[in-house]
Amino acid sequence: MGGLQDCFNIADLREAARKRLPRGVFEFVDRGVEDEVSLANNSDAFRRIKLWNKVLVDLDGVQLGTDLLGSPVGLPLAISPTGLAGLCWHEGELALAKAAAKAKIPYTLANGSITAMEKIAKGAGGRLWFQIYLWRERELTYGVVRRARDCGFETLIVTVDTGLGGNREHNRRNGFGLPFKFSRRNIPDFAMHPGWVLRVILPYLRESGFPRHENYPAGYENMMAGSAVKKDKAMRGENSTWADIDKLRALWPGHLLVKGVMRPEDAIRAVEHGADGVIISNHGGRALDSAPATLDALPGIVDAVGARTSIILDSGIRRGGDIVKALALGAKSVMMGRATLYGVAAGGEAGASQAISLLRDEYRQTMGYVGCRSVSEISPDIIVRPHGSNQPV
Ligand SMILES: Cc1cc2nc3c(=O)[nH]c(=O)nc-3n(C[C@H](O)[C@H](O)[C@H](O)COP(=O)(O)O)c2cc1C
Repeated sequence: MGGLQDCFNIADLREAARKRLPRGVFEFVDRGVEDEVSLANNSDAFRRIKLWNKVLVDLDGVQLGTDLLGSPVGLPLAISPTGLAGLCWHEGELALAKAAAKAKIPYTLANGSITAMEKIAKGAGGRLWFQIYLWRERELTYGVVRRARDCGFETLIVTVDTGLGGNREHNRRNGFGLPFKFSRRNIPDFAMHPGWVLRVILPYLRESGFPRHENYPAGYENMMAGSAVKKDKAMRGENSTWADIDKLRALWPGHLLVKGVMRPEDAIRAVEHGADGVIISNHGGRALDSAPATLDALPGIVDAVGARTSIILDSGIRRGGDIVKALALGAKSVMMGRATLYGVAAGGEAGASQAISLLRDEYRQTMGYVGCRSVSEISPDIIVRPHGSNQPV
């Protein structure tokens, strides 16, 4: 397989990314945790849902867009926050943000990203969201939040599902851990990918040195290179509670979304604490390995808060039909992490745009098959259920 012209679906972009990236970086992007059960659950759930086709519906002028958090979007789709996207491509975050802006969908810059938020705010255009982790010392969190606010980011996503941290065994095996250290495990990997070193790493070294977490609190940007920082302050989130959502609500003037919600009672609490929406997410199978698919968590959360908040879902979106399935079960929009990461790794902004347009085409075709001319027509009755049951097959 050659370049982007040979990629006809997200799986092809994944394969192209696998060839271009060192194994350690690819596995960081691609894999889950432990036995990768939740990763598999996500894709199995989308495969399990079947849709009824509907015939002889006039499909002239099918509308793909919708409103999300009060403004129009070109598709019911947004890019999820993914730390270190800048290791897939030089300034990969900017490439992703530009691709999102062209497709008129929101882009979320991760707290753990490499390209500085000021550069994204200035250079990308479009709807920009920012994701924050709760740092143990809250003033560190608030400083980053104020910075994102001053840059004009529209929406703040607070990610709350990382618990006490994940068990990424593959990263221990392949030597790609943070803080990063050269070792006998990763040096041969980099040596086998000179193109990646030249295209992605060298420009950083020339401009400002070893890639940094430019959106970490002041003084913590060099954590990737293992600089001496007070780890106790930097540790994320272990001491966070719902009171933190109140505090962020008071601090953030724009939309506030809580990411990583899987239970109806947590969704209710998020709304009670002032969130404008919840993102149902199991971190793409990168957090609790026994987590169910987000698609399985969706109906309960829709019943609990669907009438009063925006429900967004991520984890497992690989086909445009997946968007239709999530919307039919009550999501307002979906988000994707890996689909566009594979794209950006395979070909920068053009690759990210290709990922979005592949999903757009599949989404449009699926809408056609199920006879929906707009998002508002995507309803639960397109889902195949056993006769007399309200459960999907
Ligand atoms: C490489 C990578 C890095 C990620 N980094 C973050 C992060 O910094 N913050 C966050 O909230 N979620 C992060 N996530 C999770 C994504 O936001 C999202 O929930 C997940 O990728 C969705 O699943 P999908 O990849 O199957 O679309 C990351 C995911 C990946 C693949």
